[in-house]
Amino acid sequence: MWLINSSIGRKVVMSVTGIALILFLTFHMSMNIVALFSGEAYNMICEFLGANWYAVVATVGLGALTVAHIVYAFILTAQNRRARGSERYAVNGSSPKVEWASKNMLVLGIIILLGMLLHLFNFWYNMMFAELMHIEMQFAPSDGFSYIKETFANPVFVVLYIVWLCAIWFHLSHGFWSAMQTVGVNGKVWFNRWKMIGLVYTSLLMLGFLVVVLAFAFGCAPSLCCAA
Ligand code: HEM
Repeated sequence: MWLINSSIGRKVVMSVTGIALILFLTFHMSMNIVALFSGEAYNMICEFLGANWYAVVATVGLGALTVAHIVYAFILTAQNRRARGSERYAVNGSSPKVEWASKNMLVLGIIILLGMLLHLFNFWYNMMFAELMHIEMQFAPSDGFSYIKETFANPVFVVLYIVWLCAIWFHLSHGFWSAMQTVGVNGKVWFNRWKMIGLVYTSLLMLGFLVVVLAFAFGCAPSLCCAA
């Protein structure tokens, strides 16, 4: 099939799955911002997204998107390396035009994957998985607020999450406009505009996540002053 056999088809899959994952991140970041202001409101959202059938279906869909994105990333990287042969080293070594993030998309992707495993263990495993499996955990499955407080009270997790968020930011800063290029944004003017839009958008996105980590790490989230 075209989406599997042709090089452009594979790039389209990378781009479309990447854009869908950015949309998920936009939703996830907006949801997390609520935790800054009200633990009760945040836990209401967590309850809505708990082990309900629609949330489980969405999680499976999200997992499929992520797996497709990662598998295609490995295929495309292997294909590019085969096509370029030893020339790839010359490009890596000296071309100032090729950005750092662009050259290191796979390495960044691997750091992101490891961070994601930690993150799923910190939250998804304790919440949705525990609810589905009827496992008793430290807090109730919909008490995302307590899990956030607990996680970011540990400085090791704070540092690991900051590194993880930086890796995601680098990855997205390149991935966003690369995806736009693949889905047909052409011309120098629009190329530069999308690059700027992508940089601003992904920076705001990651700052939104970072603010939550830091506000809980330093105990200065407004929601903390009235939490039980
Ligand atoms: C750093 C701040 C973050 C916090 C406080 C946070 C918090 C949470 C919480 C509480 C859940 C469980 C939601 C539930 O099961 O109801 C969750 C799930 C999840 N988070 Fe995060 N998250 C953060 C960053 C991220 C980032 C940067 C990503 C992606 C790169 C991400 C990806 C996910 C995924 C894929 C799930 C599972 C979603 C599902 O069950 O469908 N999170 N997160």
